Amino acid sequence: MEYKSAAPRIIAPKSPNLFQIALEIQKKGPLQFFTDQWRIQGDVPHLRMGLHNLFFIIHPDHVGHVLLTNRKNYDKLKTWDVTRRLLLGSGLIGATGAHWKRQRKLMSAFFTPKSVELYFTLMLNAASDVTTRWETASKSGQALDIMEEMTRITAWIILRSMFGMDLSEERLRTIERDVETMIRFVYRREMLPVKAPLWAPLPSHVQYRKATSRVHLLMREVIERRRSMPESSWPNDLLSKLMSARDEESGETMADVFVRDECIGIFIAGHETSARTMAFMWYSLHENPEVAAHLRRELDAVIPENQQPTLEDLKQLPYLTRVIKEVLRLYPPAPAFPRDPVTEETLNGVRLEAGAFVMVAPYFTHRHPDFWTNPEHFDPDRFLPEREREFHPYAYCPFGGGNRICIGNSFAMLEMSVLTAVLARRFDAHLIAGHKPEIEMGGTLMIRNGLPMHIVQRV
Ligand code: HEM
Repeated sequence: MEYKSAAPRIIAPKSPNLFQIALEIQKKGPLQFFTDQWRIQGDVPHLRMGLHNLFFIIHPDHVGHVLLTNRKNYDKLKTWDVTRRLLLGSGLIGATGAHWKRQRKLMSAFFTPKSVELYFTLMLNAASDVTTRWETASKSGQALDIMEEMTRITAWIILRSMFGMDLSEERLRTIERDVETMIRFVYRREMLPVKAPLWAPLPSHVQYRKATSRVHLLMREVIERRRSMPESSWPNDLLSKLMSARDEESGETMADVFVRDECIGIFIAGHETSARTMAFMWYSLHENPEVAAHLRRELDAVIPENQQPTLEDLKQLPYLTRVIKEVLRLYPPAPAFPRDPVTEETLNGVRLEAGAFVMVAPYFTHRHPDFWTNPEHFDPDRFLPEREREFHPYAYCPFGGGNRICIGNSFAMLEMSVLTAVLARRFDAHLIAGHKPEIEMGGTLMIRNGLPMHIVQRV
C-alpha cells in the first residue's frame, strides 16, 4: 500500500543553552517552546538539559524506527527510574524485559476488543448517573468543570470494572486527588536538574508521601477484601486474574506488592487519559458547531428516542468514531513519552548517544505539515476509511505503537464512544463567556485553568 511520505527535515539540530531554555519555557510554556524548537531545528529537536541531552522524535519514519523496527535499542531504562520508584513500582507501564513480557501476556486477555465489551453495561450505567447530575445543572444554569466531571466518571469506571471497587463520591474524589498529586510531583521532580532528597520536609514532599500512603492503603484494603472471599466467588475481573496467576516455574502466586503496583498503574493509565480526551471532546464540539450538529444528526438517527444506545448501535456510528480519532489527533493525552537509546545511533545525521533522553512526541507528529493538510484544523473526515488508508503507519499514534502499544486502547475507545453517545445525544455544553482554556503539557496534555461549561439539555 502506498502511503503519503516525506523525508525528515533536519535544519539546525543545536540546543539553546539551559538559561535560554528555562527563560523561554517560563515565558511561553513548554508546549509553545517545544513547538518553536521543532520549527527552528527540524524533525529531531535537541535540548541540552543540564547533564542530559533530550531529543524529540517527531517524524513518522523515526517514530516507527524507535517504537517498532529498532525497538530493541529503545528501552525504558534511566528515564523511567523516577517514575518507577515513586509512582508505578513494578507495574506494566514502566516494566522491562522478562517481567514486562510475563505481565503483558497475563493481562492482554482482558483487553481484547471482544473482552472489553463485557464492560459496556457498566459504562452505560456510569453515563446515566452523569445524566441525572447534568439535568440538574442544566435546570439551575450552574456551570460545571467538565475536566472534573470526566475525571470522576472515568475513575469510577476503571475502579469498578478492573477491581470491583465501588467507592463513595468522597473516597473517589480523595483517591483522584491523591493520584493527581503523585503524578504532578513525579513529573515536576523529573524536570528538576537538582533534586532535594525525599526525606527533606518540604511541603510538596509531605503532600506526596501522604497521598502515596493513602493510595497504597486503599489498594491493600481492596486486595485483602478480595482475599477474604472464597476464590470460587471472585468476580471475573483484572484483580482476580492478577491475584490468582501462578508463576509458570515456581507455581507461586504474585506477591501483593506486585498486584498493588499493577492496580495503581492501570488506575493511572486507565482514567486520566480517557478523561482528558473526553474534556477535549467537549471543547472541540463547542469550538466546531458544524461537527457537533453532524454528530447529533448521526446519534439521533441511530439511537431510538428515550432509549440508551446498544452495543450494536455503537457500531453504527462511524462519524462518532471519526470525531474521537480527530480529538486524539489534535489533543493526544500522552503528548510525549520517553525512551532510552541502549547504544548510540544516528538518525538522519543527528547523533543519539546511549544515555540520552528520547521523547516520542505524538503531539507534534499529529501536526506535521508534511503528513497532515491544514493540521491545526479540526476535521473528523480525515479519518474516512479511504483517507485513513493513505496515512503513513506512524503519522497517527495516540496509543503509541510496536509491542508496547497501549494495552487499554479498545477499552478506551469503547468507553469514550459510550460516554459521548449518551451525553452528546442529550446535552450541549458551552464554555462560559470569556474563558480561554490554557492547554499545557504536564504528565498528560491538560487544560491548566479548567473547562467550566454550561450544560444545556437537548432532549
Ligand atoms: C485515550 C485513552 C488512552 C491513551 C491516549 C493512551 C495512551 C497510551 C500510550 C501512548 C501508551 C504507550 C506508552 C509508551 O510506549 O511508553 C500507553 C501504554 C499503556 N496504557 Fe494507555 N492510553 C489510554 C487509555 C488506557 C486505558 C483505558 C488503560 C487501561 C485500562 C491503559 C493502560 C495502559 C498500559 C498498562 C500501558 C503500558 C503498556 C505496556 O507497556 O505494555 N491505557 N497508553
